[in-house]
Amino acid sequence: MSAFDELCTRLQKSPASWLVTGAAGFIGSNLVEALLQLNQKVVGLDNFATGHRHNLDLIESSVTSEQWQGFRFIEGDTRDKDTCKAACDGIDYVLHQAALGSVPRSINDPVSSHSANVDGFLNMLIAGRDAKVNGFAWASSSSVYGDHPDLPKVEDRIGNVLSPYAATKKVNEIYADVFSLTYGFRTIGLRYFNVFGPRQDPDGAYAAVIPKWVAALLRGDTITINGDGETSRDFCYIKNVVQANLLAATTQDEKATSQVYNIAVGDRTTLNELFRSILDGLRKIDPSIPNQEPLYADFRPGDVRHSLADISKATELLGYEPTHSVDDGLALALEWYKANV
Ligand SMILES: NC(=O)c1ccc[n+]([C@@H]2O[C@H](COP(=O)([O-])OP(=O)(O)OC[C@H]3O[C@@H](n4cnc5c(N)ncnc54)[C@H](O)[C@@H]3O)[C@@H](O)[C@H]2O)c1
Repeated sequence: MSAFDELCTRLQKSPASWLVTGAAGFIGSNLVEALLQLNQKVVGLDNFATGHRHNLDLIESSVTSEQWQGFRFIEGDTRDKDTCKAACDGIDYVLHQAALGSVPRSINDPVSSHSANVDGFLNMLIAGRDAKVNGFAWASSSSVYGDHPDLPKVEDRIGNVLSPYAATKKVNEIYADVFSLTYGFRTIGLRYFNVFGPRQDPDGAYAAVIPKWVAALLRGDTITINGDGETSRDFCYIKNVVQANLLAATTQDEKATSQVYNIAVGDRTTLNELFRSILDGLRKIDPSIPNQEPLYADFRPGDVRHSLADISKATELLGYEPTHSVDDGLALALEWYKANV
C-alpha cells in the first residue's frame, strides 16, 4: 500500500478539518473535492479573483449530499488579516493555494500579484500560526528556479527569478523559513511544475497552455506556439498534486517540514510534443476535429526555456509517488474538456 493510500484510509477513519484557500480555482477545487470524497470537513476561502462559482457547483455534483454538508464556503480575501484568522478557526490542516498565477499577468500588473501572493501569504502564515494548526502546505512554483541552468531542477539550486510572479513565490519561501526560525511555525512549500487537469480555466489572456489549446482546438481555431516549440515543461496531472498536498500537510516527520519540494512527474514534454498529443487525443475522441499544423510566434518574456523536476526529495521525505503520467492525465483531461467546455 502506498503512503497516500494509507493516509486516505487513516483520514476516512478519523476525519479532520481542512482549510483550502483558492477553493474556487483549479487546484483548490480539486483539493476540496478530494477531501470531501474522503469525508473530511472542509472550509473553502476564495474571493473569485480568477476562480469561479461553477467550480463549487461541479464539486457539489461529484460528492454525496452528506459529504457536501461537510463543506463551508467563505467568500473573502486573503489580503484581509481578519478573514484569514476567521477561516483558520478550528482548522487542523491548511492547504494555501490562493494567489494570482501567471507570469505575464505579473509582468503587466506586479502590484496586484504582489499583494495577493505576498500579503495574502503572510496573513495566512500568521493566521495558521496563531490557530496552532497541525499542518500547513502551500503552493510555491517551479518559477523560483528562474535562470538556473541545471536540469533536472533540485530544490536547493535556484537561480535569479525572471518575473514578478516568481519573485512573489521566492518571497513566500523566505517568509516560510523565517516563520520556522522565529516562531517555530513549520510549513511545507510545494513547487508545482505546470499542473493541468479538469477545471483549469481555458479562458482569458492568462490561461495556461493546456486548457487554452484544448479549448481552441475544440473550437477549430489555429494554435500559435510562443517560440520554436522546443521549450519544455514537466507537466503534472492534478491528482498527483492533490496527493502531494495531503501528504505534506499531514506529515508527522519533523525532518520533512520547513522544507520546499518539487511536485511534478519527472518527465519533460516539449510544446511541439504537447501540441501533437493534444490534437491526436482530441481527434480520437472526436474525429471531426480537423488536423492542423501550429503557427509559431515570438518567445514570451519571463518564460524559462526548460523545466524538469527531480522529485526524489518528495518521494523520500513525503512518500510522494505520482500516479498519473502526462499521457494518463492528458487522456482524462481531454475527456473532461470535451464534456464540459
Ligand atoms: N496551475 C499551475 O500550473 C501552477 C503552477 C505553479 C504554482 N501554482 C500555484 O498554485 C496555486 C493555485 O493555482 P491555480 O492554477 O489553481 O490557479 P487559479 O487561478 O485557478 O486558482 C487560484 C484561486 O485563488 C483565488 N484567489 C486569488 N487571489 C485571492 C485572494 N487575495 N483571496 C482569496 N482568493 C484568492 C482565485 O480566485 C482562484 O480561485 C497558486 O498559488 C498558483 O500560483 C499553480
